[in-house]
Amino acid sequence: PDFLCIGVKLLKWFSVHGRDLPFRKTDDPYKIWICEIIFQQTRIQQGLNHYHRFINRFPDVQTLAEASSDEVLLHWKGLGYYSRALNIHKASHQIMENFGGVFPQEYDDILSLKGVGKYTAAAVHSICFGGHLPAVDGNFYRVLSRIFADDYDISTTGAFSHFSSLALLMMPLGKAGEFNQAMMDLGSEICRPRNPYCEICPLNADCTAFQLKKVHEFPKKLKK
Ligand code: ADE
Repeated sequence: PDFLCIGVKLLKWFSVHGRDLPFRKTDDPYKIWICEIIFQQTRIQQGLNHYHRFINRFPDVQTLAEASSDEVLLHWKGLGYYSRALNIHKASHQIMENFGGVFPQEYDDILSLKGVGKYTAAAVHSICFGGHLPAVDGNFYRVLSRIFADDYDISTTGAFSHFSSLALLMMPLGKAGEFNQAMMDLGSEICRPRNPYCEICPLNADCTAFQLKKVHEFPKKLKK
């Protein structure tokens, strides 16, 4: 398959149909980081008010670092998974101490922050600093396994690097941030886990699972 051509099609769809989200109007890595942590586990509709409330009270790393953990937790109320809030707070202290209060640009430095995993580091690095890295999450597993009718078991440890390699082949140079967000939007709006909207999918002509009428069989997950 022409991997790059599929990636270009995805970006074209994203430029017209990408969601109009508040954190798409900023290039502030602090805000992108907070939003990636929130929206990894919370649906956009459910989390948007909390995101605004959090950013209004803690508009930058310094303000967050100076706050008490009780107040940070208070502003996290309703989002659940409170360890996320405590990690964000600890990471703000790391940024003050190790990076002079400036959000780090390098992938490894971002990854060193408390609570930041490979997905979040790649998302912030690509969206804010133009890093050429796929932000691989469950959306990537689902979309890519369907397009290529790829039966790689997503419950195995090799899945991350397997789907990272596929994504890299599709990512146009200089467009990683947009590509990553386009995959997130396609995965949540079109290529949904159940009842995907294949008829209106911009990639349906390229989607092997769709052509074979086997979309529901992907992604493959052997271990429950
Ligand atoms: N979920 C988490 N981060 C996102 C982003 N940047 N765009 C869309 N959905 C997301």
